[in-house]
Amino acid sequence: GIAQKVNNLLAKMTLEEKIGQLNQYASYKNATGPISNTGNMVDEIKQGRVGSILKVNGAVDTRIYQQAAMQSRLKIPLLFGEDVIHGYRTTFPIPLAEAASWDMDAIRLSARIAATEAAASGIHWTFAPMVDISRDPRWGRVMEGAGEDPYLGSQIAIARVKGFQGDGLGSLDAVMACAKHFAAYGAAIAGRDYNAVDMSDRMLWEVYLPPFKAALDAGAATFMNSFNELNGIPATGNSYLQRKVLKGKWGFKGFVVSDWGSIAEMVNHGFVKDKNEAARVALNAGSDMDMEGRSYIEYLPQLVRSGKVSITLVDDAVRRVLTKKFELGLFDDPYRFSDEKREKEIVNSPRNHEVAKMMAQKSIVLLKNEGELLPLSRNAKSIAVIGPLAKAKKDMNGFWALPWGIADESEPVSLFEGIQAKVGDKKNVWYAKGCNVNDTSRAGFAEAARVAQNADVVVMAIGEAYNMSGEAKSRANIHLPGVQEELVKAIQATGKPTVVLVMGGRPLIFNWTADHVPAILFTWWLGVEGGNAMADVLFGDYNPSAKLPITFPRSEGQIPVYYASKNTGRPLVDVNDVAYKSAYIDELNTPRFAFGYGLSYTHFKYSDLKLSSKKINNTQTITCSFTITNSGKYTGEEVVQLYLRNRVASVTRPVKELKDFKKIKLMPSESKTVSFVIDKQKLCFYNQSMQWGTEPGMFDVMIGSASNDIRLSDDFELLK
Ligand code: IFM
Repeated sequence: GIAQKVNNLLAKMTLEEKIGQLNQYASYKNATGPISNTGNMVDEIKQGRVGSILKVNGAVDTRIYQQAAMQSRLKIPLLFGEDVIHGYRTTFPIPLAEAASWDMDAIRLSARIAATEAAASGIHWTFAPMVDISRDPRWGRVMEGAGEDPYLGSQIAIARVKGFQGDGLGSLDAVMACAKHFAAYGAAIAGRDYNAVDMSDRMLWEVYLPPFKAALDAGAATFMNSFNELNGIPATGNSYLQRKVLKGKWGFKGFVVSDWGSIAEMVNHGFVKDKNEAARVALNAGSDMDMEGRSYIEYLPQLVRSGKVSITLVDDAVRRVLTKKFELGLFDDPYRFSDEKREKEIVNSPRNHEVAKMMAQKSIVLLKNEGELLPLSRNAKSIAVIGPLAKAKKDMNGFWALPWGIADESEPVSLFEGIQAKVGDKKNVWYAKGCNVNDTSRAGFAEAARVAQNADVVVMAIGEAYNMSGEAKSRANIHLPGVQEELVKAIQATGKPTVVLVMGGRPLIFNWTADHVPAILFTWWLGVEGGNAMADVLFGDYNPSAKLPITFPRSEGQIPVYYASKNTGRPLVDVNDVAYKSAYIDELNTPRFAFGYGLSYTHFKYSDLKLSSKKINNTQTITCSFTITNSGKYTGEEVVQLYLRNRVASVTRPVKELKDFKKIKLMPSESKTVSFVIDKQKLCFYNQSMQWGTEPGMFDVMIGSASNDIRLSDDFELLK
């Protein structure tokens, strides 16, 4: 078996060759051009000093590097890693947008297609999914995750890992997944990227770790550690996280890659005095591969020779890396993924674009639809498309889109083009930019208002440019950038019926728009088919079905604001009586748009909640069922959500916790019975001594259309 092959190979390796396997370099240039780092990477590959490369992609370039590896003494193939975050060449909606679909099959398919394209282009490994929970929209990387909730986040982690890894490592269209960033990176203090994290064990285990465990159970081949410290210990040098929990308690068999330079960054953290110590601490703590840090390659040999790092630990790390190379089939054929013919056939195929469009449709959240302004009639004589993002392409792709400047054919369809294609007669679709995304000039307002004035209906596209959410894109102010909301006011003043589409990578604040504009769609960054998907929603060819996976605050001062909050000793009951209550004297407690919220063109009625039992013990289950009816005039899908509250426990519990959900499709007047099974697993929590289990007591059952829109409720007792 593979274990034996790995051991045989290991026995032939010099110490330098072993450490080479733990060394990963980046290159942004193609293999024949100059490389981005000092020294000659190709020479180092030939010397067996490199185990993996990131940021080289394409069948041609990966082959060139692999040829260099085949000239090394032991011919150990390289692993090619890449940030395939939301699609490879066919860009999909950003991960947070996909999360809004609450559609696990669709999310899995999206990852599947990304993997198929990447694998045909020589990529073995994606640095995804990011499974970091985040409750802070100031943090730019919320765009890359699944939002604020550990249950939803875990389901999505599973879908993505399974999507990327397909039928398993070794099949030609599977790439290794990487659950990142281990751990708690999404809780950076004040939402500032790379900042320290200080969190209780309870919060860590109940909220931040579950999606990692789910990713692991789904078979994630690798993990990435994180830039942040956790309670004083950098994740990269954290043996509790990596050795005790991940490789110990959880039994993880894959390998852990550091984040970019995060080993050496432990010097800046003030955790080690130099790179040499950084290498020792990181390896001992369970970081197997050094991404672009050059700490292992420079210092590990001497550290092992002087006995400061044991060869047993190095061998363990090397074994983990080699095992994956064997599982991928690279020892049988190191070039099996670098296949130009397959790359051409698969990348950007019409079918992939079709799925990208489907995913984009499912990601669009209808936030408001007063007077049923939407869907628009296709017969409108004239439509004004206004705003700085109306013709956006690169901005439609969003951050972490791979084609950045590479592939013209994957240029996204803009909203303007999507509408033109939909209504057919191009002369009735007008455009005015109005202003830029992020500057102070109002010079284009008058022209935009004039265009709006002459149209039957106005569609506006505003929000964030692609580089305003993402890594190192934290924002202290998450209002609409620049003068965009003033542009909305100027257009609204024309009195024309106006629909606003907000694009972006995170929850944004747009209170005036939310109060005054009749129809609002939050579209995130939708990827290559964005404009077509938006047009489908605007004209009713797709009925929106998405729900927010993260809370939208009213003001930055509320952050962190999330639905699974604690009741406190002085809960606010009446907004008019805030005195000495847990409240603000200048802001509401409630968010602008709650977790789980999102409208449809149709309406859903919930009725007849029945619990199969009102008292159960630990070994029994309760089935709770209810009826859902489409009472409107369009076929539509509703995400029904099950929340529980443990009323009294030895540690206080959140006022609501999502425990299950289903997406139900109904034709007008159609009814369906939906049921959820409540079992022990849904009732467990960490008690005072951090033991996972249940305690007897009363539980509230809440069935909602959103976390703040509970339609049916009941309760039951868990007996001793
Ligand atoms: O995968 C990423 C990681 O999420 C952030 N730092 C850089 C890595 C490689 O690009």
